[in-house]
Amino acid sequence: MPSGKRGRFSPGTPILDAARELGVYVESVCGGRGICGRCQIEIQTGNFAKHAIVSSAENISPFGPKEQRYADKRDLKPGRRLSCSSTIQGDLVVDIPADVQVNAQVVRKADDGRHIDRNPAIHLCYVEVPEPDMHNPLGDFDRLKAQLEKDWTSKGLNWQNLTIDHHLLTSLQPILRNGKWKVTAAIHQDGENTSPALIALYPGLHNEAYGIACDIGSTTIAMHLVSLLSGTTIATSGTANPQIRFGEDLMSRVSYVMMNPGGREAMTIAVRDALNDLIGQVCSEAKVEASDILDMTFVGNPIMHHLFLGIDPTELGVAPFALAVSSRVQLPASQLDLQVNPGARVYVLPCIAGHVGADAAAATLAEGPHRQDDLMLLVDVGTNAEIVLGNKTRTVAASSPTGPAFEGAEISCGQRAAPGAIERVRIDPQTLESRVRIIGSEKWSDEEGFEEEAQKFGITGVCGSGIIEVIAEMFLAGIITTDGVIDGSLAEKSDRIIANDRTWSYVLWRGEPQLTITQTDVRAIQLAKAALYAGIRLLMDKMEIAAVDQIRFAGAFGSFIDPKYAMVLGLIPDCQLENVKAVGNAAGVGAKMALLNRDHRREIEQTVRQIEKIETALEPDFQRHFVNAMALPNKVESFPELEKVVKLPEVKEQTGEDDGRPRRRRRRP
Ligand code: FES
Repeated sequence: MPSGKRGRFSPGTPILDAARELGVYVESVCGGRGICGRCQIEIQTGNFAKHAIVSSAENISPFGPKEQRYADKRDLKPGRRLSCSSTIQGDLVVDIPADVQVNAQVVRKADDGRHIDRNPAIHLCYVEVPEPDMHNPLGDFDRLKAQLEKDWTSKGLNWQNLTIDHHLLTSLQPILRNGKWKVTAAIHQDGENTSPALIALYPGLHNEAYGIACDIGSTTIAMHLVSLLSGTTIATSGTANPQIRFGEDLMSRVSYVMMNPGGREAMTIAVRDALNDLIGQVCSEAKVEASDILDMTFVGNPIMHHLFLGIDPTELGVAPFALAVSSRVQLPASQLDLQVNPGARVYVLPCIAGHVGADAAAATLAEGPHRQDDLMLLVDVGTNAEIVLGNKTRTVAASSPTGPAFEGAEISCGQRAAPGAIERVRIDPQTLESRVRIIGSEKWSDEEGFEEEAQKFGITGVCGSGIIEVIAEMFLAGIITTDGVIDGSLAEKSDRIIANDRTWSYVLWRGEPQLTITQTDVRAIQLAKAALYAGIRLLMDKMEIAAVDQIRFAGAFGSFIDPKYAMVLGLIPDCQLENVKAVGNAAGVGAKMALLNRDHRREIEQTVRQIEKIETALEPDFQRHFVNAMALPNKVESFPELEKVVKLPEVKEQTGEDDGRPRRRRRRP
């Protein structure tokens, strides 16, 4: 457990050997000498009807001298056993604890709770190397290699074609002698059939190896420090992407490269510096040496991917949006100026297409539409929405140019999500009065104590999820028509409807400053949501489906959006509301999966090859879907699941210009 794999073994089989035979990865740094403590397990006792066995403590060999020695020296938790030194004597349910924690200084941080089976690309192998002698001319590395082969082949690891990094050749001899010929070798092997490489060597027993999983977003960079030996995330940190100073959105950064000699170099240096700062932060938080970081995985949209790797992204700014490389990229971290162990390796996930990057690939890996029968729609909303739709049999992907409106840009009172920004809105359909909630406070504006909290932060704008809510609530309250026109006739009923040049606005917040939703704001959201929906609908056409089973919102914007309001506005197609979920930084989770398990690397490489890429700009139907999707929630699509929980207003059709005058009414068909 928790993998659930089972098998039959002769009494006397070491539990570590049984686990290996079943394909369950249990770490072993010392090769079963009973000194590293990495192979710990726990026995569950009782009657397990599900497995049809009775597991009892008598069915594992008694505590032996190796375990006793380890327990005396290193403090083995009660109930824990060393799987290399204990044998099977009868039926057993064996638990592999997620938190095998050997070094006391490691701070554990709450993980996202997802279980990732480990099969990392880095192995630590303790080895005792024969000393040189006059009669044996083999070099130190060759004797080390021969001993590694001898000790580890029987344990299922094949180090036959081991190579050594050049930087290690120069320090190999002092390390062997400092360690008195007892050393721990860090070996990188990305695939079962690829050449292993000795990338680091430590004197004596070295019992920790760390990895970094990182999502380079155009706005923020998120980094996780993960123990490669236990799979635990021990520190997480994030920072704003410093490239923002070269351009807010992706296209302005591409323009910066095109217009400024040295612009690409400056942005590459900026992002790598930020990554090195983050590495310093996570290491100091977890009290880990950066030199113990041996493997790293990175994801990002195509432009971030190129700038990080030092590739000019100009080609991504114009059709046909050619990537310099779409397959995975592997290289030493030192080539990217990352301040970690000089032998550390980098794995960059593959990109799906010119506008659908390694971040979308990582989110796909995390959410797994390709692993299930149900049709899943996975949407990452940013300035460009990345959309993946599919299941086990077929998956398609596209991007849609939503623009920055969902992130609060282009909206008169829009702002980034920060304390004090309005994030929740309710409008009374009778009085048209509004109630709001702000980031940083649990209280609604009509509740006692809100005033003080509002004063603490100051209310300065509406964040992305708040904008979705206010426009959806305005629609539900009848303030805006299905065509997105603010109904000026309501000015007679409420002083919150105010004239604004030739159109009308809604006063959301009466304060200093007063926050209003203008007709232009509504139009900006309509354009953004129509682009998103048209992209989704195009993929549904390609799949020849009329509905999806599940919807996942990835990314920061998706984390706070209320699925009901997203559907009221027609951002996404109709779906049972309980099947619409925000999954947060799914790209970061995918990066972590690729860090901890090489099989996940092969899985996403193969999946990306199979995903059908759709270029929305080339599809004639995009425009038709776009026009239909300008209406709220949509001119032609129905939303039966949504209407089970929300009463949508009657259609108020618009027949002329957006002058905001009252329109004739007709029933919904
Ligand atoms: Fe090292 Fe068991 S493998 S203690």
